[in-house]
Amino acid sequence: MRLALLGCGTVGSDVVRLLHEQSADLAARIGAPLEIAGIAVRRLGRDRGDLPVDPGLFTTDALGLIKRDDVDVVVEVVGGIEPARGWLVEALRAGKSVVTANKALLAEDGATLHDAAAEGGADLYYEASVAGAIPLLRPLRESLHGDRINRVTGIVNGTTNFILSAMDATGAGFAEALEEATELGYAEADPTADVEGFDAAAKAAILASLAFHTRVSAADVHREGITEVTSADVASAKSMGCTIKLLCIAARGTDATGRETVSVRVHPAMIPLTHPLASVGDAFNAVFVEAEAAGQLMFYGRGAGGAPTASAVLGDVVAVARNRLAGVHAASESAYADLPVRPMGEALTRYHISLDVTDRPGVLAAVAGVFARHDVSIATVRQGPAGGGAAGRGDDADLVIVTHVAPDAALAATVGELRGLDIVRSVASVLRVEGGL
Ligand code: NDP
Ligand code: HSE
Repeated sequence: MRLALLGCGTVGSDVVRLLHEQSADLAARIGAPLEIAGIAVRRLGRDRGDLPVDPGLFTTDALGLIKRDDVDVVVEVVGGIEPARGWLVEALRAGKSVVTANKALLAEDGATLHDAAAEGGADLYYEASVAGAIPLLRPLRESLHGDRINRVTGIVNGTTNFILSAMDATGAGFAEALEEATELGYAEADPTADVEGFDAAAKAAILASLAFHTRVSAADVHREGITEVTSADVASAKSMGCTIKLLCIAARGTDATGRETVSVRVHPAMIPLTHPLASVGDAFNAVFVEAEAAGQLMFYGRGAGGAPTASAVLGDVVAVARNRLAGVHAASESAYADLPVRPMGEALTRYHISLDVTDRPGVLAAVAGVFARHDVSIATVRQGPAGGGAAGRGDDADLVIVTHVAPDAALAATVGELRGLDIVRSVASVLRVEGGL
């Protein structure tokens, strides 16, 4: 069984190492030895340390390598949209099975890859693309196929989880926590994809597609990052017995006409400390799945890093290699449900709103009136002197309001109107709330 390895960076070099260290076991599990036919990279002259591989295997001609007759399986750990898409379509159409960790490509244009796999009669596996080492996509795509998934809630970005965990533990602001994440090697030199939620949104699209048998792309995902989360938000969450996490949420629902829909979103949210995802700290990932018959399931582990991600890649390599030897293929893409993706404004959420208001008669009624006008029901209200001290700050009061579930557009419109009231001096913090409270 001969592999073309495309990419030999953080993940690819650990794929090479594990292939070398475990070659006898992998051969026994597959029923044939696994050999590397070639490794495509960008820079032939790059120092690759003591990688246990023949330097003569490196090439910059990825397409030429894929097209070779002696290549059975293509492993892509380069990343990005092009040229990866062209390479993988070429391999799949030629009947060569593909293993990829490329979440950006799968979320942007997974349909093209699935179509090419169906055309060529090849396998397309991508376990490493979401939550690194955690076996998650195979359970969604196989083990849970007899069940009906209603909701998937996940922490799928390690960098932002590290930052939010640090803010929670030390009271640091976002910039300070990001600096620590960069120093420790969690955040990349350009952290935009992580902190603005693009990485988590790509993973959310992949999870939603599998969970709801529907093609969902990154463009369908409502995305908000964590750059606006302040230490005041974190303190506010703490005072409510909550913590703030960047969540990806994919949920089944019904629209006004009773038609079944799915909503997919990524944003920071308060979750109670009692929620299983609240204890997921540091750069770890976890995904909480709610299914009709199985009930609640939680998948936890390392979502990034060379060796953890290579573990998931190799698991896929063993699966596709065994299929190939047996002359069979995994079930193709399941997108039969084709549920419409609901706009964020219709997604049902809850808000936690902190206001600094004038402390005089009628203020509470005026604030409550705004909620009523937008048909948003208030769950709890807490009022104290502004600034939290016993004496307070002049004639102001702090008002903390938690709503019941309502369409996101109604909640956003409520906050918009509150911002315009004379009696509201400032809207100190607005956070969505998930997982009960
Ligand atoms: P790296 O940047 O470390 O490595 C990329 C590799 O691709 C390098 O070997 C590079 O060559 C090679 N490459 C880049 N452009 C080309 C090109 N045009 N032709 C041939 N080779 C090229 O990336 P990672 O290993 O971190 O990530 C790889 C994939 O895995 C991405 O899709 C990423 O999203 C995904 N992933 C990564 C995780 C992680 O923790 N790092 C976790 C989960 C998924 P050269 O060595 O010469 O520079
Ligand atoms: N940048 C990603 C993270 C890597 O922080 O989780 C894994 O996809």
